[in-house]
Amino acid sequence: MNVLWIFAHPEPRSLSGALRDEGLRALRELGHDTRLSDLYAMRWNPVVDGKDFRHDGEQRLIVGTSSQRAYTEGTLSEDIRAEQEKLAWADALIVQFPLWWYGMPAILKGWFDRVFVKGFAYGVTGPDGRTLRYGDGALSGKRAMVVLTAGAPEDSMGPRGINGDLGQLLFPLQHGTLWYSGMSVLPPHVVYGADRLSPDAYRARADELRQRLRTLPTTEPLPFRRQNGGDYDERLVLRPELLPGRSGLAVHYV
Ligand SMILES: Cc1cc2nc3c(=O)[nH]c(=O)nc-3n(C[C@H](O)[C@H](O)[C@H](O)COP(=O)(O)O)c2cc1C
Repeated sequence: MNVLWIFAHPEPRSLSGALRDEGLRALRELGHDTRLSDLYAMRWNPVVDGKDFRHDGEQRLIVGTSSQRAYTEGTLSEDIRAEQEKLAWADALIVQFPLWWYGMPAILKGWFDRVFVKGFAYGVTGPDGRTLRYGDGALSGKRAMVVLTAGAPEDSMGPRGINGDLGQLLFPLQHGTLWYSGMSVLPPHVVYGADRLSPDAYRARADELRQRLRTLPTTEPLPFRRQNGGDYDERLVLRPELLPGRSGLAVHYV
């Protein structure tokens, strides 16, 4: 497989940096081709800017629509096009980051904001005119997996844990971004208690990561519901006969 590894940590000598090196080595030993986007090392610009989309000066720049035109006309800025080319090449995407304030570092959010533009990552329609998203779409056929380190211990990120349920914290990324654009999202690899890891615990977590990468091509994806699979009505609301009386993010898993 062709694997693109997105790395969003400022310090290569961190726990995250060590896991990245382990992971990339394991992938190469398994015979995969790898490419790396090390966002801090690349000095990635995370801020959407009018200069991203060259236009004739008469149109007002509205990111959603102008970016689609820019994409199809090939006028996106060079750094965005380079990342899109890597994504187009990839069969699988690894998104690695430390959990910061319940979410991803801003530099990584800005990678998605600028690279996942309309016409490239979303906003495509099928032959019947329906918009393809949530399980179908521009990036379908690709696999994606989050590799995360978090300071919190595992139980405190469970369903009743004070640090918030992990599946819910990752919902915007895993469901709202990766699944939205059509990718199959594998269960995340999470290193909990990441600020207090003993050398033995580090070796165990690194072994687990290698094992997860070994099964990257075959692991069963998270069972998110497909938008166009019949579970949602025409308003994109889950049909009342499915999980009656239940609401919240968990209803979007089969
Ligand atoms: C700005 C900042 C915000 C953080 N927010 C969280 C958080 O919301 N939840 C959590 O479990 N850990 C949080 N942490 C802890 C980091 O997730 C942890 O230090 C990191 O994953 C350890 O990996 P590293 O040594 O590679 O940085 C935060 C750390 C920083 C620096």
